[in-house]
Amino acid sequence: MDIIISLHSKLAYVVLIFLVLATLNAFWGLIGKRSFGSKDLRLSLFALIFSHIQLLIGIATYFVSPYFSAWENGMGAVMKDSTLRLYLVEHPTTNILAIVLITMGWSLHKKAAGDRKKYFRIAVFYGIGLLLLLSRIPWQNWP
Ligand code: HEM
Repeated sequence: MDIIISLHSKLAYVVLIFLVLATLNAFWGLIGKRSFGSKDLRLSLFALIFSHIQLLIGIATYFVSPYFSAWENGMGAVMKDSTLRLYLVEHPTTNILAIVLITMGWSLHKKAAGDRKKYFRIAVFYGIGLLLLLSRIPWQNWP
């Protein structure tokens, strides 16, 4: 099932690039007092869609990953090993939370009346989501 792991690894570039662009764009829009147009909507939507695709592929990756069999040795063994803890516990839970925040940012921006509120909600929720993702990427093995 290397193809799923490899897809997860490659799609990570796309997700991170779109999230960085959408977050910076929202901050620039906010600071520059621009109106929230179709370009802003599309950029935020692409970041949301790629994050959701990555979430689904991430869940599949979890079960096909060679790390998964470590659960056979019990919870204690996984938690004691920092690499196993990262791949099997911290990376999945933190990233799911990050995608929940990004999704909240998207739906809150849709409900917001006014351009500044829309930019603000994307900037804050996507920004926190992005920081969470970056905090739990296995940097020693990727890119
Ligand atoms: C936007 C969210 C996510 C991003 C950006 C992301 C990114 C990454 C990256 C860059 C790697 C390292 C790939 C490599 O070593 O080549 C990785 C590995 C992994 N990810 Fe994610 N991930 C995300 C969500 C998830 C989720 C939600 C899960 C599980 C529910 C998950 C499970 C895994 C597992 C198990 C591995 C280790 C695969 C292996 O090398 O055997 N990921 N992820």
